[in-house]
Amino acid sequence: MRVYVLNGPNLGRLGSRQVDVYGVTSYSDLADMCADVGAELGLDVVVRQTDAEHELIGWLHAAADEGAAVVLNPAAWSHYSIAVRDACAMLRGPLVEVHISNIHAREEFRHHSVVSAVATGVICGLGVDGYRLALHHLASRPSDATA
Ligand code: DQA
Repeated sequence: MRVYVLNGPNLGRLGSRQVDVYGVTSYSDLADMCADVGAELGLDVVVRQTDAEHELIGWLHAAADEGAAVVLNPAAWSHYSIAVRDACAMLRGPLVEVHISNIHAREEFRHHSVVSAVATGVICGLGVDGYRLALHHLASRPSDATA
């Protein structure tokens, strides 16, 4: 099964960005971890990061066309991008939204994600482990599951 692990703006700076909030794992270590976990689970994992909203939307369209599963950390776009949400709403495969930090314990403007209502499920506050858990969920999910 193909799984796209898609990351939004500033996540390419993991490892040096606000390490007290996001931890010391670098983006490249995170990408390697997702590839390794995917290989262990027999998933075909593709990991990407972008700071350009149109690029993420294009990747979501491609995932929708393929019927692929998606693990998405929309980063700051979570809180205001209706365009990203609308692209997520077109997905035919499961969507797991991941946040490294606990967005509910942070500034008020981070408490709401416009993506969550169209996600299959949400993992937040578990650090980069959230990505591993999302991949495990997708690997063990029945292929005809609707929720
Ligand atoms: C984040 C939380 C967002 O509020 C923030 O804008 C990010 C990362 C997280 O992974 O905790 O860039 O999505």
